[in-house]
Amino acid sequence: MSLFLSCLFAFRMVIPLFDDDTGLLILAGMVRHRLMPLYDVFLSHCLTDTATRGVAMVPKVALDVMSCEVMRVLQLTDSCIVPISYQVPRKHSGQEFHEDLYPDTVGTTPAMSAEEWWKGGNKQVKDPARGCSTSSIPLSTPSSSSAVPSRSPSSTSGLSSGFLPSPSQSAKAIQSMMGPTSKFRHIQGAVMHRDTHITNLRGLNLTTPGECDGFCVNRQRVAVPLAISGGQIGIFERSQPGRLPETALSTIQNSVNVVDLSWDPFDTHRLAVAGDDAKIRVWQVPEGGLKETLTEPEVILQGHTEKIYSIKFHPLASGLLVSSSYDLTVRLWNLESGEQVKLLTGHQDQVFGMAWSPDGKLLATVCKDGKVRIYDPRKSTAPVQEGPGPEGQRGARAVWVCEGKYLLVSGFDSRSERVLYLYSADSLSSGAIASTSIDISPSTLIPFYDPDTSVVILTAKGDTRVHIYEMFPQDPYFIECSSFNSPEPHKGLAFLPKTECNVRDVEIAVGLLLTKTTIEPVAFRVPRVKKEFFQDDVYTDTAVCWEPALTASAWLSGSNGQHKKISLKPKDMTPVSEAPKEAPVRKYLPSSVYLEEKTDEQKKEELLSAMVAKLGNMDDPLPQESFEGVDEDEWVSE
Ligand SMILES: *[C@@H]1O[C@H](CO)[C@@H](O)[C@H](O)[C@H]1NC(C)=O
Repeated sequence: MSLFLSCLFAFRMVIPLFDDDTGLLILAGMVRHRLMPLYDVFLSHCLTDTATRGVAMVPKVALDVMSCEVMRVLQLTDSCIVPISYQVPRKHSGQEFHEDLYPDTVGTTPAMSAEEWWKGGNKQVKDPARGCSTSSIPLSTPSSSSAVPSRSPSSTSGLSSGFLPSPSQSAKAIQSMMGPTSKFRHIQGAVMHRDTHITNLRGLNLTTPGECDGFCVNRQRVAVPLAISGGQIGIFERSQPGRLPETALSTIQNSVNVVDLSWDPFDTHRLAVAGDDAKIRVWQVPEGGLKETLTEPEVILQGHTEKIYSIKFHPLASGLLVSSSYDLTVRLWNLESGEQVKLLTGHQDQVFGMAWSPDGKLLATVCKDGKVRIYDPRKSTAPVQEGPGPEGQRGARAVWVCEGKYLLVSGFDSRSERVLYLYSADSLSSGAIASTSIDISPSTLIPFYDPDTSVVILTAKGDTRVHIYEMFPQDPYFIECSSFNSPEPHKGLAFLPKTECNVRDVEIAVGLLLTKTTIEPVAFRVPRVKKEFFQDDVYTDTAVCWEPALTASAWLSGSNGQHKKISLKPKDMTPVSEAPKEAPVRKYLPSSVYLEEKTDEQKKEELLSAMVAKLGNMDDPLPQESFEGVDEDEWVSE
């Protein structure tokens, strides 16, 4: 570290200011304009606008403790004195005294006279006001902050908010000081190797209705509506990537326009297709894929009186499907008998989206009439709960998160901004308990939720950006993670079962991206160093959601099921929680790297950006950093 600093300040006089209570060190360059708080290693910096002629530290008792101010210096410039405040960002700053930031500090009454000291005396400073025997005073009351000159906006705006406690403090303490963080915030989306792509797709119908995800996927195959008359559907085998032949492909001829389509979660061959003739056709793709065009559906489900909006398979019971329609009803179908088994009412307008609760008991809907609803279809045809939904009328989707405790609705606000709303699943009527605005764009964000990591991945047909959030069952509810951008606007992103994730690459989700002419797998990876170990903090046992937990008739007669769970740990891998602990390793480049044939200015700029780059990692430690040195190339550079 000393090498680092001497490089940076080789040309300047440096004034060190040290606060013993926090371990914060500020180094001020005399002529140039850099102030740097340090702790052990370089933590953060502050660039001031004007040249510094001198700096001095304000006594600790003058600090505004209620604003979590831990240090203040006065900077002397050519024409003024600028107070610069260092504050630790805290949630309840202003309302609570943050004791951990303020160990008792030394008092201001002399402990002894010069004569006493000369005679060999050693005494500690006492607190004069209290006259107590302790050598320090607590700062637990708001100090005379009114006496403090107000901070100039130009100095505060450039101030760093980074501040870290001593490395000996636990990662948890760091987290509490930095606010909640997500271990997925550096998640990286990446299109997989070209060898895995299916290319030369032609004639896709890229104008599917807003309620449709655009296409659907399972472990084995992909179904995409084609823009050929007669509601044709292309079926593409995942086991046969590569360039499709120019010759016409075998298709499913649905005979009417396709409005929505969905693979049976428990049968990779069975595809349900909703048509604009109010019927649902269920198709059986033969083993190995389509060899010839299919014209005869396995079953036709009839009952709706108008066009269908969307269909959704039940997550636990086999052969149970729900559909919503322009006739404003929601119907449940038993595919084994081919019959309608429930008819739900209560919608006043277009049903934008439907979602089954993870326990398979409840069905949530979000509707253009401005309501979110929850049905208990076996108990009542009317909703059991209703609450205010998004105001915007462009479209919406819903997904259950946090073990079914919350309902996440992606929709639009009254200004057509895309917003995520979070509802407590047992009190829809109280409205959203949290929300987060995303951006302004016309198409509805389609959410995918991974219950194992509580990560929600959202994107819309026609977008390039894929938004990622970690969801929490308490404040702050959403933490935004880094996003992924597809190389060009995509036509849809659909996810595969968790078993498709390569755990050796720490993939937590794998989806297929549909473009105008290709299908490309995209993996979402968590950057980790010790990838030879199984990252068991990321991979909790996952639900076997590709096997039914019960039959439709068992569910209809009141039974409930649960998916069994499996570990994704390969036999030859050791959990990272059992990995031998090592001291964190940090690599710094030798100064010589920076000092070849460059001007002073260049050297300084490079050093500064190198240090700032380090900071990107430092001020935001990942939980795994407590036992892992993270390589530079593990991070996405923004
Ligand atoms: C694509 O599908 C939609 C919805 O069924 C339909 O309205 C539209 O006509 C289709 N487009 C083409 C070009 O076939």
